[in-house]
Amino acid sequence: MTPNELLARILAANPIIPVITISKVADAVPLAKALVDGGITALEVTLRTPAAPDAIERIVKEVPEAIVGVGTIRSAGDVAQAVRLGAKFLVSPGTTAGIYRAVAQAKLPFLPGIATASELLVALDQGFDTVKFFPAVPAGGIAAIKALAGPFSQARFCPTGGISEGNFLEWLAVPEIVAVGGSWLAPASAIKASNWREVTAIARRARDAIDGTTRA
Ligand code: 3PG
Repeated sequence: MTPNELLARILAANPIIPVITISKVADAVPLAKALVDGGITALEVTLRTPAAPDAIERIVKEVPEAIVGVGTIRSAGDVAQAVRLGAKFLVSPGTTAGIYRAVAQAKLPFLPGIATASELLVALDQGFDTVKFFPAVPAGGIAAIKALAGPFSQARFCPTGGISEGNFLEWLAVPEIVAVGGSWLAPASAIKASNWREVTAIARRARDAIDGTTRA
């Protein structure tokens, strides 16, 4: 299976992806378990904090049910680090030629971040027809995705940035949107309070909502 086919498979089974920021390594495993318990298994753990690398390593080792993606890839060095940590997929907020080169070597599923037609053209040219649309709400929301789908009918989108529990189903109802991501599934307040039950409840509500939509 090619990395793109693998990505398509991951997103089809996991159309809601928490964007996770971990400040304390000790929170990593209970947080990941709480999400998995709620039926959310593909996780984007961002490289935004000093704790992130150790947190990712622990989740990979101790929560085998989780499909651990590494997010906030900002350089070729981040790609290499994500590979070392055991990432199953990579997510970037934007891209550079260096990131594309490193991803080609890594041979891992990759969601390149785009916000404009030109960036989407580059992603398609590099062989990626499924992209992260970021920052989704400030960059024009659903209307922007529908407009981009005009000239780029082959493109598929995973928007993140400003999506919430209250509106994620509207995004997922758009045919070109294959998945959505957001931090609402792993709120900083719940993590700070070690309120893992709340995290599981949020995840379960989201999972039930999409399962209900699929059944309908
Ligand atoms: C991301 O990197 O995808 C965003 O920071 C997530 O945005 P949100 O906090 O608005 O969900």
